[in-house]
Amino acid sequence: MSEPSASSNDRLAHPYARPWWKDALVYQVYVRSFADSNGDGVGDLAGIRSRLGHIASLGVEAIWLNPCYPSPQHDHGYDVANYFDIHDEYGTLDDFDALLADARNLGIKILMDLVPSHCSIEHRWFIAALASDPNSPERARFYFRDGKGDAGNEPPNNWQSAFGGPAWTRLDADPTANNGKGGQWYLHTFAREQPDLDHTHTDVHQLFDEIFKFWFDRGVEGFRVDAVAGTGKHPDLPDQPPVGPEVGVLDITWMNEYTVFRPEGHDVWRRFRATIDNYESGHPGRELMMVAEAYAVRRPELVKAFTEPDQFHQMFSFDLMLTPWEKHSIEQAMLDPIAILAKTGVPPAWTLNNHDIQRIVTRLGRSDAHLPEIWTNNNLALSRADVDLALGERRARAMAALIFALPGSLYLYQGEELGLPEVFDIPADRREDPVFERTGGAEIGRDGCRVPMPWTNDASSSYGFSTPRADGTVGEPWLPQPTAWGERSVSEIDDIENSTLHMYQSLGEVRDEFAVSQPLEAQTIDIGPEVIAVRRGDLVVVVNPTDEPVQLDLDHRELAITQPVFASEPAEMHTTGVIPANSTIWFSS
Ligand code: BGC
Ligand code: MG
Repeated sequence: MSEPSASSNDRLAHPYARPWWKDALVYQVYVRSFADSNGDGVGDLAGIRSRLGHIASLGVEAIWLNPCYPSPQHDHGYDVANYFDIHDEYGTLDDFDALLADARNLGIKILMDLVPSHCSIEHRWFIAALASDPNSPERARFYFRDGKGDAGNEPPNNWQSAFGGPAWTRLDADPTANNGKGGQWYLHTFAREQPDLDHTHTDVHQLFDEIFKFWFDRGVEGFRVDAVAGTGKHPDLPDQPPVGPEVGVLDITWMNEYTVFRPEGHDVWRRFRATIDNYESGHPGRELMMVAEAYAVRRPELVKAFTEPDQFHQMFSFDLMLTPWEKHSIEQAMLDPIAILAKTGVPPAWTLNNHDIQRIVTRLGRSDAHLPEIWTNNNLALSRADVDLALGERRARAMAALIFALPGSLYLYQGEELGLPEVFDIPADRREDPVFERTGGAEIGRDGCRVPMPWTNDASSSYGFSTPRADGTVGEPWLPQPTAWGERSVSEIDDIENSTLHMYQSLGEVRDEFAVSQPLEAQTIDIGPEVIAVRRGDLVVVVNPTDEPVQLDLDHRELAITQPVFASEPAEMHTTGVIPANSTIWFSS
């Protein structure tokens, strides 16, 4: 096994791909749920600062912060009221600067979350639009339209919100106003508190130019760009063609060809890229980037379109995140993004978890997780099959051990390194995701993957999430934590040999030692019918996705001169060539 690297600064000594983001290990921090420094039950920037050591222990090169701008929190920061400041519950710009400086000292960069598609109803532009006339310049930055029908009572078109319900909300107004059309309607692809911005408007261009400059000047190295699929609309906003009854309420929007994956969106990304390139050329030594968030699973043509050299530097690959636990599905989910890499030279940004998706430990623990037809998140999330968490964790570890070997960068989501499962027992009156409310509770939404992190086994401090106030009390965590949370805390599992935390730490080290210096390419190889085997240069990674151990032929020419260097189940690792059920082994020559 490798010597652990002393600190993430050692990365500089490695023959890493350049620019840095091409093979970076990135850690996603959901600010509200990471660590609470002031005992109010809400995570904050000072909390993150106090826990940077944990992040650094994973060998990460950058942190992506979920939105931490001022926001009324209707969609937890994805409703931005001001793009140039920090949300008061999270701290101040000074706290942000201090976090960035501390992170930089550890060799860790900061990425922000950029939300271009919409802002908040509390953004000053929207407030001004409400106070202005229907045809005013203030309304032109959004999509305000008169309603259909004589009295304007019908929404302007039939578009549905991605969170359920119509994508239009009507303003209260004198019904006789606006030539008898009454209050106008405004478009919101997500919740009604998230009015869509019109990116054909020059004010919007200027706003985003300023946002990039503001955060780059502070030392941010890039942005995860939110909801890029729905940015850009057909200029006439035509009715969406009808969808069949089988289409779920949360999927209707994503089938709307007039607002999803539109050519108009690409104009926005070209403008953003020009802004970034321009800034970068004035700041030698900086390597700035933006990564696109869109679900383009099994759609290589889309990934290619988003990562043209004049658009995104990278795009998330959610393929492996959403794949069932089955050999051929996993192979395809891995090879599609690698094929794009071979064509475009753009390495994937692999992900197994994020703040929108049911945690993988739960999904892969389902008794139907191996069925190839269970492909999309919704199928998995909607599955009611029994969950075996121990099995799910084992499979999740095996999957992590696969993606750590692949060419490209990796985005880990906080708590993944603890093997946290999805939390289901959140009472209805504590649920906060707008999806829950907008679907009348038919969809439970995403709160279950956002439950505050457990750091210790001490229930009185919300398992170490909250630092008590001066009087020794702590506020309720913003989402309730299950009682078993403490057993899964960082301090508890740090004491367990071969825990998932230790596995992630080791994976960071073996990735540095055996993977990142290999070429940015990989192929599957055939070393047996049950296993998935991938070769990347000198590294061969073998996944056994079955529920039985598999005996490998160690004399096979692909393995002949290799040694096992890592196993997702180290306690079961041996040199006889038996690869345990639901596990992954790395071999290197
Ligand atoms: C983000 C979500 C958010 C939505 C609207 C997404 O893709 O990841 O958390 O609710 O965009 O901004
Ligand atoms: Mg707090």
